[in-house]
Amino acid sequence: MSLLQKFERYPLTFGPTPIEPLPRLSAALGGTIQIYAKRDDCNSGLAMGGNKLRKLEYIVPDAIASGADTLVSIGGVQSNHTRMVAATAAKIGMKCVVVQEKWVPHYDAVYDRVGNILLTRLMGADSRLVDAGFDIGIRKSWEHAIASVEAAGGKPYAIPAGASMHKYGGLGYVGFAEEVAAQEAALGFRFDYIITCVVTGSTQAGMIVGFADQGRADRVIGIDASGTPEQTRAQLREIVDHTAALVGLGRAVREDEIVVNPNYAYPAYGVPSDATNDAIRLAARTEAMITDPVYEGKSMQGLIALTRDGFFPPGSRVLYAHLGGAPALNGYGAYYKDG
Ligand SMILES: Cc1ncc(COP(=O)(O)O)c(C=O)c1O
Repeated sequence: MSLLQKFERYPLTFGPTPIEPLPRLSAALGGTIQIYAKRDDCNSGLAMGGNKLRKLEYIVPDAIASGADTLVSIGGVQSNHTRMVAATAAKIGMKCVVVQEKWVPHYDAVYDRVGNILLTRLMGADSRLVDAGFDIGIRKSWEHAIASVEAAGGKPYAIPAGASMHKYGGLGYVGFAEEVAAQEAALGFRFDYIITCVVTGSTQAGMIVGFADQGRADRVIGIDASGTPEQTRAQLREIVDHTAALVGLGRAVREDEIVVNPNYAYPAYGVPSDATNDAIRLAARTEAMITDPVYEGKSMQGLIALTRDGFFPPGSRVLYAHLGGAPALNGYGAYYKDG
């Protein structure tokens, strides 16, 4: 029985996302393991989709029930999350205020004009640029934005960064784990590992709770892209515990079931290394699968490095969770001008 049965869900996605074999990428990495991707980057027609919509499906019913007229959220200048909150607000007929902080030391002249922020503005969100550095926690600028909506006579509904520290933020990816199990039954095999990017935590936390119910949470390998792995891990632990209690998992999740690899986030959040860019190129050239320099490029880098290092036993089937994020590439054009 689904752990999510008692929760209301407002559909924002197409439904279960496809699982796609990646034979040319697998062969390029030596052919000893089989790599697949679960395409959450193709999960919706709303403004190019991505992981936040799975989370927002369980948050929207609460937002509507609250009587709010404005969704308020926060992220970096090229935040996928604020794009998805703006899309959700447009779709459900609410207003939207998003605070966009300078989380990334990146100075491309068009950085605040293209990609995610362009789409966010296009969908009518009030996008407010703020000078503040990277932090996944609760921010003053966000509290100010909420207060400003109230001062103008509106009724805000607050969604924290990445929708992670929201009471229902972990539910969507519990559903991902249940969806994978159903797809495995149809495929006739089980995946040995699941690779996911982790920053604000609720994506992996939801997966951990969902896969813990299937006795294999330790097979979810989070590749940190925050560059602040202690803070990410602490937030992950908090969301895991909260979500496990909320869905009635019936047991505590052990520390060894929370796996975060900090080795690929360098040099900083939002800044790709040469290895990140090589990983982005390899996925693009073998599978036409587009990953971005902030999130999925780093988890792809991790997948590639772990494969080359022999981390996965020969014959393993590895599922790469593609969580979206490609629009940010437009803010990083200089890296790829020659391909
Ligand atoms: C494309 C993409 N991948 C991965 C993540 C990381 O997910 P989370 O913040 O839930 O850890 C995010 C958001 O932060 C994202 O936008």
